[in-house]
Amino acid sequence: MQLTPWHRPIDARMRVPGDKSITHRAILFSALGGAESEVRDWLVAADTEASLRVAEAWGVQVVERSTRRLVLKGPGGREAWHEPDQPIDCANAGTTMRLAMGLAAGAPTGLLTVLFGDASLSRRPMARVADPLTQLGAELWTRRGGLAPVAVRGRHLTGGTVALAVASAQVKSALLLAGLNAKGRVTVEEPIPTRDHTERMLTAMGARLTSEMAGRVRRITIEPHPEALRTVDVQVPGDPSSAAFWATLAALWPGGKVVLEGVSLNPERLGFYHLLASMGAKVGYHERGSDPEPWGDITVQGGALTAVSVEADQVPAMIDELPLVALLSTQAEGESVVRGAAELRVKESDRIRATVQGLSRMGAAILETGDGFRIHGPRPLSGAVVDAQRDHRIAMMLAIASTVAQGATELLGEGSVAISYPEFFDTFSRVRQEAE
Ligand code: S3P
Repeated sequence: MQLTPWHRPIDARMRVPGDKSITHRAILFSALGGAESEVRDWLVAADTEASLRVAEAWGVQVVERSTRRLVLKGPGGREAWHEPDQPIDCANAGTTMRLAMGLAAGAPTGLLTVLFGDASLSRRPMARVADPLTQLGAELWTRRGGLAPVAVRGRHLTGGTVALAVASAQVKSALLLAGLNAKGRVTVEEPIPTRDHTERMLTAMGARLTSEMAGRVRRITIEPHPEALRTVDVQVPGDPSSAAFWATLAALWPGGKVVLEGVSLNPERLGFYHLLASMGAKVGYHERGSDPEPWGDITVQGGALTAVSVEADQVPAMIDELPLVALLSTQAEGESVVRGAAELRVKESDRIRATVQGLSRMGAAILETGDGFRIHGPRPLSGAVVDAQRDHRIAMMLAIASTVAQGATELLGEGSVAISYPEFFDTFSRVRQEAE
């Protein structure tokens, strides 16, 4: 796809699609209840379709579905699950596969669930979920090297404490979900707090869960809950990670402005916005509600940008936005450094490499390090042929980069936006037309 530079900054007010993390959970957790639940403003995208396939395979019924509303009926709790008659395709969705592994580990005894994914998901590490689940007594198999496909047989698990080796909300969630069907309580210790959508949603559904800080470590404990959980309706807020593309577009241009309406203001998702403010953009928050999580509007106005450094303890709160931090840093005064972000190498693509390759082709002074990047700015970008490497977030980051480049950019692999933001390019064109 050809993308040409913009002549004017964005000046828009917009809504972004529903939060991906919350939509995945609302769909998958419906399998733990029996009644109907409504998921309003859900994210309709390739990733969340994968979670629907898993939920349906266990017996969840789709009662109604439109772009605004998804009505699901749970099978009546875990004990009423069907055994899937085929392996389930998780496609590109790491959240689907990892959360489903946790759920499947605590399925009724003997119930077999087999999960597979696309080429990208089949390269991503599953041992980080499989190993601690095995420690809790789960019965599961991965391909050699701890990779998908994964086969999981339901079992009554033992309880125990697991200290996570990596700060990952997906791994934490898998263990907490497995803990619902354990003999004793399960405690997960995270080295750096990660997004807590699972904890919030399970608590709303009646699970008994506590969370406390022990120094810098967060300990989350879940009590066994063999009965069905209460189903809850979920109003899905806009996804702050999707909104971050437009926030970046506003911040890259002096005079740029965007109001992002109705997005999640969950503190563990806002690291990128706080960083943006420390780089010199004007960022304002207007909280408008707190159900099921804090949500409201974020306003971003562009200004002169200065370099930043990002350290390991800041990474989880902006993990999916780090390619955008790199892009912003190319236009910021000074040397920016991102450290402690090796996790980026095992996302939908190696996002350190993909970011560095894409932006250096466009003329950025960016250096790859083992666990992040170093960027010298400001540097003018120029149009080039760049490859999204089939990664939705890299495609969208490069599209935003093209707006400030001199000359046209040829973006390859733009179809990957269907994973999390199918209407991204429609919105991109509309916002441009409004600006020019
Ligand atoms: C997610 C957690 C993060 C994030 C992903 C969604 C979630 O992954 O990158 O896009 O919904 O729990 P990790 O848990 O692997 O860090």
